[in-house]
Amino acid sequence: MRQKRILTGDRTTGKLHLGHYVGSLQNRVRLQDKYETFILLADIQALTTHFKNPDLIKKSIYEVAIDNLSVGLDPNKITFVQQSRITSIAELTVFYSMFVTVNTLRHNPTTKTEAKHYGYDDLTYGFLGYPVSQAADITFCKADLVPVGEDQLPHMEQTRKIVRRFNELYGKGQEVLKEPDTLLSPTPRLVGLDGNSKMGKSLGNALYLSDTEREVVQKVQAAVTDPARIRVSDKGHPDICTVSQYHKALNNDEYEDICDRCKRANIGCVACKKRLAGCINTLLDPMREKRAYYENHLDEVKEFIINGSQKANRIGDATMDEVKAAMNIKL
Ligand code: TRP
Repeated sequence: MRQKRILTGDRTTGKLHLGHYVGSLQNRVRLQDKYETFILLADIQALTTHFKNPDLIKKSIYEVAIDNLSVGLDPNKITFVQQSRITSIAELTVFYSMFVTVNTLRHNPTTKTEAKHYGYDDLTYGFLGYPVSQAADITFCKADLVPVGEDQLPHMEQTRKIVRRFNELYGKGQEVLKEPDTLLSPTPRLVGLDGNSKMGKSLGNALYLSDTEREVVQKVQAAVTDPARIRVSDKGHPDICTVSQYHKALNNDEYEDICDRCKRANIGCVACKKRLAGCINTLLDPMREKRAYYENHLDEVKEFIINGSQKANRIGDATMDEVKAAMNIKL
């Protein structure tokens, strides 16, 4: 029996941060040993919001690939897929778009939130339709499982619906396309350093995997804590403190003890932050080493992406043969 296949990925709009690590990258590292893993570098989806800035996207393709490698994804185990290189993704997107209604796309809650965030008055056709292209990302290789965060659930539902509809329209009782399962991230989303519910580049509250030791220390020192705690002798409220949430996500062994001491005013914010910064730097150190290697061997990274995409194209072309045969448009 073949190993089950996973496909997941990131938009290539900039380097990845600790929120990505906690929410998805650390899980990918665990999954790569159990599943055949495809990591999509979603450059077309990046263009839906950054079409005026293709240079940024090219740079980000390397950055995102290196971020994934630096956390411990093994290039001998995983397959990188550059979205714009995969012809079957483009073809499937077109076929699916014939039967997906504009109304469903308009009501997709994640797309709506993102449209607001980017301040769109006029939604482009590509932006509105990107969940359709995401369905193509997942189905070209008949992925069994898709590990994602909560914000991607509407897209997963959309994908599953498209697969069911396709099979119903053209399958004649056969399952031409595979309906993928969702693997929801086991860890909750990491808050931003400013206490904002989301860590994000555009929010200016992110700790990057590529940050230096000094940057980590400075950013953690500036993080928002319990506003009612002014003096060290004031008792703290870890349940409303940003820093305590970081301890929980990244320094779980000490979490209870730190909260307990904070509540008794037995540890101050400065010391607590120092502990956290130390902990984050210990986590990032081996990643920095791997990153430095790949930054000096960009040709190798490029080769992983090109070879991986070639492999993906072979799989996608086979899927297209089946899809076109089912649709009866193959001469
Ligand atoms: N939309 C995803 C995100 O913003 C990225 C993505 C594109 C993706 N295609 C995918 C994730 C396919 C999983 C499967 O994070």
